[in-house]
Amino acid sequence: MSAFMASATPILLSTWSFGLRGHAAAWPVLEAGGHAVDAVVDACTAIEADPEVDSVGFGGLPDRDGHVTLDACVMRSPASCGSVCCLRQHLHAARIARDIMDSTPHVMLVGEAADAYADAVGEPREDLLSPAAAKAWESWKRDGTDVDQIRDAGRPVDRGGGQLFDGERRWAGHDTIGTLALDAMGVLAGACSTSGSPWKLPGRVGDSPIVGHGLYVDPDIGAVTATGSGELVMGVCGAMLGVEEMRRGAEPTEALLAVLERIKSSYDLEEKHQVGLIALHRDGRIGSAALRDGFKVGITTVDGDEILDPEHVLFPGESE
Ligand code: GLY
Repeated sequence: MSAFMASATPILLSTWSFGLRGHAAAWPVLEAGGHAVDAVVDACTAIEADPEVDSVGFGGLPDRDGHVTLDACVMRSPASCGSVCCLRQHLHAARIARDIMDSTPHVMLVGEAADAYADAVGEPREDLLSPAAAKAWESWKRDGTDVDQIRDAGRPVDRGGGQLFDGERRWAGHDTIGTLALDAMGVLAGACSTSGSPWKLPGRVGDSPIVGHGLYVDPDIGAVTATGSGELVMGVCGAMLGVEEMRRGAEPTEALLAVLERIKSSYDLEEKHQVGLIALHRDGRIGSAALRDGFKVGITTVDGDEILDPEHVLFPGESE
């Protein structure tokens, strides 16, 4: 399997077409010689603030009790990573995860204490529940839909724009912005941010803020980030498995396929389950793969922006 390779650094690569909205914020600085870690945090920060993206930050869907909770992770290397889970009062989870990475001896802060940390470092408190998300929650409560987050969430399909679809329904399910960057100095970084699965049990945390599950970066090898049903990614340590496959010499997309094959052999998959993965090798090779159709990848290089279908889909051909 041959790999797509960008003609030059820097490179920004994100899950979903709405990733390009984040690239628009991050690219000018990255192109001018900025750092990969600033770029990935800036990209996620822009998406978190975008109310049209209904699976990340403001605009994200709440838990069973109507509370939006946010998770994020930022990583440069095994020795330089930070994460935050279950924020309820602060929007910019990726920026807070980066602060934890850079300014504390810890990797992860959770819940009320994470909100208190965000207060202490000057992050503004914000109402996370958008009017549209509140309306969707009210209608979900009224319809009495099952609360099981895996069975309840439909398969997200990207048709462009900020929303994902499940058939004709707009409020399909959850997803994640995952952004990987390789800067002009050849330094890698990654970040991912999510509001998690809609109508989740309060306290549920998925793959995104867990180092090695939703995101992994090894500066000697490459970076992988995941989107989709977090429970499927968590059981196989998806992002780290992908990086380890690249360490063994797999092309980036082959490495991601190995992750999807492990998911396939580990779970009783349902048609609506989706996992999308992207990889960025430290030499600029790019990989992408998904369980099913509907996933898209946003890429920005010196040649401009592009929205790509994944290089490989494990179970192709389902109707969208
Ligand atoms: N992939 C995001 C989540 O499951 O929370």
